[in-house]
Amino acid sequence: MIFHLLCFCFLSLSIGILIGVETGRARGRRSIPEGVPAVERIGIIMNGVTGRMGTNQHLERSIVAIRKQGGIRLRDGRSVAPDPVLLGRSAQKLEALARKYEVERWSTSVEDCLADPQNSIYFDAQATELRAGCVRAALAAGKHVYCEKPLTGDFQQAIELARMAANAGVKHGIVQDKLFLPGLLKLKQVIQSGFLGQILSVRGEFGYWVFEGGQQQPQRPSWNYRKEDGGGIILDMFPHWQYLLENLFGPVTAISCIGATHIPLRADEAGATYKATADDAVYATFQIEGGVIVQMNSSWCTRVHRDDLLILQVDGTSGSAVAGLRECEVQHRSTTPRATWNPDTPDPNNYLEGWQKVPTTASYENAFKIQWEMFLRHVLEDAPFPHDFLQAARGVQVVDAGLRSWAERKWQDVPRLTLQS
Ligand SMILES: NC(=O)c1ccc[n+]([C@@H]2O[C@H](COP(=O)([O-])OP(=O)(O)OC[C@H]3O[C@@H](n4cnc5c(N)ncnc54)[C@H](O)[C@@H]3O)[C@@H](O)[C@H]2O)c1
Repeated sequence: MIFHLLCFCFLSLSIGILIGVETGRARGRRSIPEGVPAVERIGIIMNGVTGRMGTNQHLERSIVAIRKQGGIRLRDGRSVAPDPVLLGRSAQKLEALARKYEVERWSTSVEDCLADPQNSIYFDAQATELRAGCVRAALAAGKHVYCEKPLTGDFQQAIELARMAANAGVKHGIVQDKLFLPGLLKLKQVIQSGFLGQILSVRGEFGYWVFEGGQQQPQRPSWNYRKEDGGGIILDMFPHWQYLLENLFGPVTAISCIGATHIPLRADEAGATYKATADDAVYATFQIEGGVIVQMNSSWCTRVHRDDLLILQVDGTSGSAVAGLRECEVQHRSTTPRATWNPDTPDPNNYLEGWQKVPTTASYENAFKIQWEMFLRHVLEDAPFPHDFLQAARGVQVVDAGLRSWAERKWQDVPRLTLQS
């Protein structure tokens, strides 16, 4: 018996080595605390988990955090905890991550992970260009699928994936994390209260200086600056602007945009110079159904002279609001200072003083974790989850319209999107 077992282990190991696939179980304690009532587990394949977003937001601050709190409690009283398998290309990096976060399973084979019935959910935070193929395979394997944005860089492919997900009858979702940031939740609250009156316009500034390499290490991955690898600020940021604008102000109906590659040469992770082929700044105007006009500047080539990396100023007939990632300030028409244009004398107004901070009245969890818990509830107890693949495709539709506007130097309409579009 023992001999047979040894033969089986040796054979499995040999097959693994032969086909270049590694799977592992890291030693160490599980991070689900002792004493927590028996928890069920849900297997989640986490692909791209060695990346910036994969490690920090999705593994550490979401999945590991949910395990540490003992999972999530469902309406029927059951507790369910994520049981992730860390998937990627480098066995060394995966094993190190698994040890650090006390995760038991890792693998370098997407096929093995998809074939394992223990895994119900496929999650993807790979570099954008690699996502569509894996998502298609996961849907074909009958897994529920949750993804980083953008779903893909190609609009037709995005809508095709949305259709495939709907036909597969599985749960599907896209990360729309900015909806859950405190500053933008406070802005939403201000809008819903009617404080602003009729909203006229929005001015958004997003960006910071991304170092080109050389004296200062770049703080973003180099593929972001190569179009052929799925890079570009339009593809990166317009999906965020789509769901934010549509959630706060209404559907985007048209877009005019001009992009730029301001910095033509950058250095990659190994310090080698490469040609930047993707847009690193974009200056866009969005029309919203009902008349609101939004101007958004997005740039990786600007130095910050604002309170936050993203600022939205919303001007309405009764008041204005300025929101950042965590805070939101308002000014009512009754406290609006009288500005008079006269550069010949010092201005008596201190414009920044006349604003009131929206108080923090709730405790805000990590935005990614909030959405992970929502997605898990969607899978486990059919709770609502509006951030589905049709929404993901809508984000890519706005990207597509922006790129066409830039290429053709003209406004592009953004029609309503359905699975039949
Ligand atoms: N929601 C957000 O706020 C947010 C912010 C940044 C990035 N993102 C999205 O998350 C995804 C990952 O971005 P990131 O910044 O974490 O990238 P990253 O370069 O840090 O990570 C990319 C991951 O893909 C893996 N990968 C597999 N094959 C690869 C290949 N051939 N080349 C490069 N990487 C490969 C890497 O190993 C790594 O795990 C992107 O789709 C991006 O659009 C979302």
